[in-house]
Amino acid sequence: MTSLWLDRAPGIPTDPFPDGGRFDAVVVGGGLTGMTTALLLARAGRSVAVLEARSVGAVTTGNSTAKLSLLQGTRLSALLGANGRIVLSAYVDSQRAAVEWLVEYLSDSGVEFDYRDAVTYAATPEEESSIRREYDTARLAGLPVVLDPRADLPFETFGAVVLARQVQFDPMEVLARLTADVRDAGGVVVEGVRARRVRAGDPVRVGTDAGELLADRVVLATGIPVLDRGLYFAKVEAQRSHVVAFEVPEQDRRESGMFLSAGQPARSIRWHRGLLLVGGDGHPTGRASSDADPYAEIETWTREHWPLARRTHAWSAQDYAAASHVPFVGPLPRGRGRVLLATGFEKWGMTGAVSAALTLAADLGAADRTDWMRVLRHRITLPQALARGIGANARVLTWYARSWASALARTNALPEGMLRARGILPAVVDPAAPDDCPMSLVCPHLGAVVRWNGAERSWDCPAHGSRFSADGALLEGPARRGLRSVEGVPAERKVSDAFVAPG
Ligand SMILES: Cc1cc2nc3c(=O)[nH]c(=O)nc-3n(C[C@H](O)[C@H](O)[C@H](O)COP(=O)(O)OP(=O)(O)OC[C@H]3O[C@@H](n4cnc5c(N)ncnc54)[C@H](O)[C@@H]3O)c2cc1C
Ligand code: FES
Repeated sequence: MTSLWLDRAPGIPTDPFPDGGRFDAVVVGGGLTGMTTALLLARAGRSVAVLEARSVGAVTTGNSTAKLSLLQGTRLSALLGANGRIVLSAYVDSQRAAVEWLVEYLSDSGVEFDYRDAVTYAATPEEESSIRREYDTARLAGLPVVLDPRADLPFETFGAVVLARQVQFDPMEVLARLTADVRDAGGVVVEGVRARRVRAGDPVRVGTDAGELLADRVVLATGIPVLDRGLYFAKVEAQRSHVVAFEVPEQDRRESGMFLSAGQPARSIRWHRGLLLVGGDGHPTGRASSDADPYAEIETWTREHWPLARRTHAWSAQDYAAASHVPFVGPLPRGRGRVLLATGFEKWGMTGAVSAALTLAADLGAADRTDWMRVLRHRITLPQALARGIGANARVLTWYARSWASALARTNALPEGMLRARGILPAVVDPAAPDDCPMSLVCPHLGAVVRWNGAERSWDCPAHGSRFSADGALLEGPARRGLRSVEGVPAERKVSDAFVAPG
């Protein structure tokens, strides 16, 4: 399940773990947020180390569809409804600043990108009103959008809102360049080392399995913060979605815009050097409504419209959405102003990550503070966003109960070949290693029961979106450890070794 970008990515040179090193800033996470923040800090003369648990881009950035756009599906109208006009303007300014920064950076550093029109289209007559609402909202925010009676797609559409000259690229080419530039500016980038503990003293101590780093400031650019202070796991929802890339015969190729449907099931469409990328079928992580293969569903839909399309890659990823639709960026509560975070990009993190990096750099005195940063930092949560947040947490509680009920009733799905362990706790045994202690299916974050995801061969937590490999190693999410054996010993036996620094 490797993405097109990760499959074709060049090897990215990195550094050995600087055990015991002291830095102005340690950035945890080597995605677009972490690498952009690190570059801004390094270029401002700060000593910086980036710690990446897996490999640069391995989690969301390297699995994105990588459209860099100010028109973001129907996000602007949703954000206006939840926050009002002042926050809408500040949000659009933040995204504009990100586009300007990244386009200038890509141009200066010779990384290829294409200008494309961004299009949000109505796939049914019922979605037409969403198109009109998004158009009105984008105009209110000063964006030069236009209405089009139909999108330039090989199937019927019922109106579209279009913003000309937005941008698309290969996110791994961008991360490779950022990584090289961080290192050229004196920064250190380490792969395969997971931050396990962060103690917010002076200095801040970052504990890993490979040793400890000291820092004046720590930035958690980990998708969702890996510290529970501030309860961000309860303020955002992990949303997983799926992407398939296809080869399309030349006569059927029409590499026009970057498209997103206004309604459900969502369809995200873009082209990359002759390949067609189609994304969609999203759902909160661990809560897929059926066991059907999501890639087969996307492929069936695509073949209806591009009959000769041939699948080359299929992959999945998740991003985190806040009830207010505005990302959380800034100091972590009880982090003494020394630990900062960024999360909640809601699948618009190409702009979101860069605007977060600009904000974090300003927080650390390495960039100018702007009006949009002030407005977004001090916004007031409106009742509509509060109600959405309460609804999301009520659903989490329901999923806790459901996950335990189906595990205790022994109706939860298991991977082929795995056996249920005896006893009360939900646990599994690998018949190939019957003497091993059974692996517990209780999520080490806050105790929901993980569900088997057959399409990706992973254990996914329906509460806050932590994910684990088939043999229990931590993949992503707010958990900091893999699944454990029922005796409490980490179950991450084989796969996790790959995540530990080679010394
Ligand atoms: C399917 C999909 C399509 C998308 N398409 C678009 C799009 O077209 N346009 C757009 O703007 N946005 C899009 N997004 C959103 C965008 O890709 C993300 O918002 C963005 O990549 C997030 O970047 P990040 O750096 O914050 O997170 P990540 O890229 O996930 O980076 C976080 C890194 O932190 C590391 N990490 C985690 N914990 C630790 C730890 N304890 N120690 C060390 N390292 C750790 C992880 O291994 C990971 O590499 C999409 C998202 C998805 C899921
Ligand atoms: S991710 Fe929180 S309980 Fe599993």
